[in-house]
Amino acid sequence: MAHSVREQILIALRKRTWYSGQELAETLNISRTAIWKHMQILKEEGYQIISNKKQGYQLVDEGDLLTPIAIEQWLTTACLGRHLLHFEELDTTQRIAHEQAQQHAPEGTLVVCDHQTNGRGQLGRTWHEAKNEGIAMSLLVRPDVPMHQAGQLTLVAGIALAQSLRTFDVPVTIKWPNDILINGRKVAGILTEMQTEADRISSVIIGIGINVHHEQFPEGIKDRATSLVRESGRTFRRAEVVATFLNRFERLYTQWLELGFGSFVSEWETLADRLHEQVTLRTRQATASGTLLGIDETGTIRIKTETGETRFHSAELIY
Ligand code: BTN
Repeated sequence: MAHSVREQILIALRKRTWYSGQELAETLNISRTAIWKHMQILKEEGYQIISNKKQGYQLVDEGDLLTPIAIEQWLTTACLGRHLLHFEELDTTQRIAHEQAQQHAPEGTLVVCDHQTNGRGQLGRTWHEAKNEGIAMSLLVRPDVPMHQAGQLTLVAGIALAQSLRTFDVPVTIKWPNDILINGRKVAGILTEMQTEADRISSVIIGIGINVHHEQFPEGIKDRATSLVRESGRTFRRAEVVATFLNRFERLYTQWLELGFGSFVSEWETLADRLHEQVTLRTRQATASGTLLGIDETGTIRIKTETGETRFHSAELIY
């Protein structure tokens, strides 16, 4: 990906403590006045840059931006996130990702935004997002698999998200199929939507919402929701969280395409919330209670009820 002038300035500033305006101007082949103008814009964007006549410019802090250049510095993927669209405000990243899919955007296209005003959740619910507090992203993939397997991507993304959040020492678990919890409260959710063409998958949009800095939540979800900062007390850079997820998910996505979902069952179970505990599950027709045994090689949940082991393809755990 070609870097803009400001991206090149940031790349240079990250390498050294001080960089003189003259050196930057020579390296980038632009005037010192142009360098100064770009520095003002970077500061307005949230980069903390100090300067003095003798030493030049120093990048003190990059803030908590979700811009392509902020994410790219942590990214080690070959494909995922390499085409990245960042918006300050959007209704939902899912809509833009679907549009991108229809406009033949490449696999791995990522749409992120700082403020999502009408986020979509599972089962027609809404997803709450506070400005600059969380992560709202939608990833476009085009897996060449039968349609009925697309739902497994929710579980594979859940494993990748849980594993990547654990690298930040956050003790997350997965509530089947798509909730990421900390101490029983929801910190992230996944919404997978598929587009088809003549009985084939043309694209899958994996939407992920993560509560990062939130201290408070609206009435209605405040007893069930939490954030990374609230549970861990440490600070997070959202760009690093996004890239860490993409780096992990790219590996798992390739594994899923090559080996199928069966290769994830035991890993999923090590991350599962309430494994071997009593749970209640609601399907469209009824509710059922029993011991959570795990999942099978298709991603279906297994419960041991009074009548024996029962598997549910589509259901919601209630707790
Ligand atoms: C859920 O747990 O109900 C799923 C929530 C998914 C929310 C994310 S935020 C980014 C993407 N855009 C949306 O509108 N929804 C998903």
